[in-house]
Amino acid sequence: MTATASTPPTPDVLIVGAGLIGLAIGWRAAGRGLQVTIVDPAPGTGASGVAAGMLAPVTEATYNEEALLRLNLASAAAYPDFVAELTEATGLDTGYCTSGTLLAAVDGDDLAHAAELHAFQRTLGLDVEAVDARELRRREPMLAPGLRGGLWVAGDHHIDPRRLLDALLAACRAAGVRFVEVAAAAVASSAGRAIGVELTDGTRLSGGRVVLAAGAHTGQLRGLPAGAFDCLRPVKGQILRLRGPALLGHTVRGLVRGTSIYLVPRADGEVVVGATVEEQGFDTSVTAGAGYELLRDALELVPALSELELTEIRAGLRPGTPDNGPLLGPAHLTDLVVATGHYRNGVLLTPITAQAITAMLTDAEPPAVTTPFRADRFARRSAAGGERIAVAP
Ligand code: GLY
Repeated sequence: MTATASTPPTPDVLIVGAGLIGLAIGWRAAGRGLQVTIVDPAPGTGASGVAAGMLAPVTEATYNEEALLRLNLASAAAYPDFVAELTEATGLDTGYCTSGTLLAAVDGDDLAHAAELHAFQRTLGLDVEAVDARELRRREPMLAPGLRGGLWVAGDHHIDPRRLLDALLAACRAAGVRFVEVAAAAVASSAGRAIGVELTDGTRLSGGRVVLAAGAHTGQLRGLPAGAFDCLRPVKGQILRLRGPALLGHTVRGLVRGTSIYLVPRADGEVVVGATVEEQGFDTSVTAGAGYELLRDALELVPALSELELTEIRAGLRPGTPDNGPLLGPAHLTDLVVATGHYRNGVLLTPITAQAITAMLTDAEPPAVTTPFRADRFARRSAAGGERIAVAP
């Protein structure tokens, strides 16, 4: 592809996807002096804007995911500077809130589950405190009487992903990032090297390096080696938003008769209630059953929520991988860089992903905690030795 007088010069980096991940990479890369173009038909309107915004490495800690925990903790630790820099660059507030997280158990089995989780968290050296029913309600007075107790995690925070998107969009524009608001259809390549992107309107854009940050949709791009993203699947999350007088001061996670739920409050009185975890392919319909169950469990935790206005119910698609960890770095074609697969931790992992991918784009060392999350870890060399083929985990 040759630039002419009517085509813009080839950027150093062409990013597919203007969600939190793509925007944060764009902002950071532009800050390192790279020319950046981001391709997205509607920047900031995908799954990132559906998310509740929990920054919860501790309450999301899961058995056999210690490397992911280390990555999550590193990104949580990067958050204060990340949002401070963003606010300094844009003047915009991101709704970053460090008030902490309560986990509340509804019945005896839920309390036993919380105790088991607590024991596991302690083996990992995490800062978690068991609290009784009285302490739960002292910290969050609108919780229902009769809850059995739970956990207090001072270090699990939250942010407003919609405000964060606005701030990153503004920061990108201020840093000179160019946006092309057309959908990408395919990665363009030549002799095994990614050279650009073909758009749905037939336009071809060239780029020095191509970064794929299109979340669950990344594998729908044409032009990639067969099976390159077979390891990526959409995991649907239905989530709803309530609005009214501010009732809660902390993120409240609930164990409600064996089901997990979370309530994330905003300073303006909004409460985000999430979320289902559904393997339904690329389906983003919302269902009466999911709305009913989320509200039923939310009201069991905080009865006064019934007075709030129900303002929204939406579904987003988390990009899931076989080990629940992200895909970060070069893969599949020369000059192709991947930043997807963040599953339940896309908002949390935004700062460390941007740091790692920008390091790779500038030929610097990415943080060591990202090493286990190479983007090609679910592929292996074929018996013949040459091409890499995707494999089931
Ligand atoms: N991070 C919470 C969720 O994916 O529902």
